[in-house]
Amino acid sequence: MSLPELLPDPWLIEPMERASRDAISAHQVRRLAWSLRHAYDNVAHYRQAFDAAGVHPDHFKTLDDLSKFPLTAKADLRANYPFAMFAVPREQVARIHASSGTTGKPTVVGYTAADIDTWAHLMARSIRAAGGRPGMRVHVAYGYGLFTGGLGAHYGVERLGCTVIPMSGGQTDRQVQLIHDFQPDLIMITPSYMLALLDAFRAAGHDPRATSLKAGIFGAEPWTEAMRREIERDFNMHAVDIYGLSEVMGPGIAQECVETKDGLHIWEDHFYPEVIDPETGAVLADGELGELVLTSLSNEAMPVIRYRTRDLTRLLPGTARTMRRMQKVTGRSDDMMIVRGVNVFPTQIEELVLQFEELSGHYQVEMTRQGRMDEMCVHVEARPAYFGAGTDAVAATLAARIKEMVGTSARVVVAAPGGIERSLGKARRVIDRRT
Ligand code: DLL
Repeated sequence: MSLPELLPDPWLIEPMERASRDAISAHQVRRLAWSLRHAYDNVAHYRQAFDAAGVHPDHFKTLDDLSKFPLTAKADLRANYPFAMFAVPREQVARIHASSGTTGKPTVVGYTAADIDTWAHLMARSIRAAGGRPGMRVHVAYGYGLFTGGLGAHYGVERLGCTVIPMSGGQTDRQVQLIHDFQPDLIMITPSYMLALLDAFRAAGHDPRATSLKAGIFGAEPWTEAMRREIERDFNMHAVDIYGLSEVMGPGIAQECVETKDGLHIWEDHFYPEVIDPETGAVLADGELGELVLTSLSNEAMPVIRYRTRDLTRLLPGTARTMRRMQKVTGRSDDMMIVRGVNVFPTQIEELVLQFEELSGHYQVEMTRQGRMDEMCVHVEARPAYFGAGTDAVAATLAARIKEMVGTSARVVVAAPGGIERSLGKARRVIDRRT
């Protein structure tokens, strides 16, 4: 867990990462003017949406003017499936990714060669902020394919001058073997899958605290400070957060620095962040909790203007870098369960589950409806040493803490070790059985 060997040589940090706020804002005004114009001139959807709102790229003069432009939602991307959001001729699109889309069609994103180059650059910057240095070995366990995690990470690792181990997701026993044999310095993986690796390490008789791993770059799903402590303790490594979404680019939009671990610096030279009230759409002041909205400043193939991420966070001033931070995402507005009038996020449950030494970090929340009443059942899993004796008491205590801290009644069921479904990528935290 040594920190000094993970800190970047100061001359490797780009001037932009330490630019003054004035310089960043001036850059953003220039880039936003270009991006709004590019979207308006080349994408029918934006032209119609701007015209309908009575705004034109010429009206954009200062950062505050951006709020006059219409928001973009996932439904807009779906309505333009597959390629109508592209702003360049299809022949200039070098790559396509798509997000899985649990309902209906996937959302498609395209990249020019220059977009791929920008992405590799920002991923390299992110990995460096997380503790990566040229020459390190990096095990990539994000899925390769249409998902942006694997290939996004891969290009960044190469760009930083590291050795990439393109393992992808799945084949859990093989992951353990290769980490043991190839001795990577860093791992890039979803936090829930890291917990599955933890079990597999122990099952294989390897001490997870004795691996070569110095730091892990975890993202693609919400995870808590309690989960960070658990991973850092069990693997004796640093755990930092990476954020991104396919619609805007993929991973590498924001990254936490290993020396501060105080939220994620948004790479504001390529993305302009706003936080809005999800109900009214009004822009909130920095520091207020709301929905993150992102505008791309350099995307060529698929510019996104004021894209509603559905992710809930707040904007905070810069620390280790001058670019603003976003607080760890507490959840997606679509993951929010309303249980008898109380808003509940899976991450709130996670914080409480991880307070118990007797429980592993695997959990799922099942929602059912009895008549007109919603019922919440929290499925947790005992650690092997604790299964059997005493789990009833653990269930009762956890239920009481949920009632006290979250404000809603829940049934708690403690499963045997291995009893909760393992994720190979993003964990499914909520099973909704209400019609
Ligand atoms: O998950 C991109 C990614 C890959 C990010 C690898 C980080 C690491 P999508 O599949 O489009 O893209 O899903 C994007 O995942 O809107 C958030 O709800 C969630 N998400 C991503 N990173 C985080 C994070 C990738 N660090 C959606 N914390 C986003 C919380 C995250 N949620």
